[in-house]
Amino acid sequence: MKILVINGPNLNMLGIREKNIYGDKDYKSLVKLIKNHAKEKGVKVKCYQSNYEGAIVTEIQKAFNKFDGIVINPGAYTHTSVAILDALKSVNIPTVEVHISKVDEREDFRQISFVKKFAFITITGKGFDGYLEGIDEIIKAKS
Ligand code: DQA
Repeated sequence: MKILVINGPNLNMLGIREKNIYGDKDYKSLVKLIKNHAKEKGVKVKCYQSNYEGAIVTEIQKAFNKFDGIVINPGAYTHTSVAILDALKSVNIPTVEVHISKVDEREDFRQISFVKKFAFITITGKGFDGYLEGIDEIIKAKS
């Protein structure tokens, strides 16, 4: 089983940006955590991060017929990107939406999620563990 983990804009700034919201661990340590977890569970994982909407769309398109599941934290594109939603619908790969913070308790402009309309589950407010839970949900859904 192959799972693609996608992180959107500013998630490469983990450990630097708003530590009170996102914690003090960096993106590199998130990738390490995800890879260790995937290894333990016996699944293959690719971690991808981009600050560009089109690059994320292309990465999702490239996953067609190659990946069994997608775990995505689209960052701010969560609240704006119909293009990312359409890409996910196009490839039709089971998708989990993850947010590090409790988005539902934050600003009004964060209350809309386009990706949520396709994802079979949304995990929020669990920090880095949300990604691991996302991987587990895909494994569960596929078995
Ligand atoms: C986020 C929440 C978004 O609203 C924000 O724009 C992010 C990160 C999260 O992981 O909590 O960049 O997706």
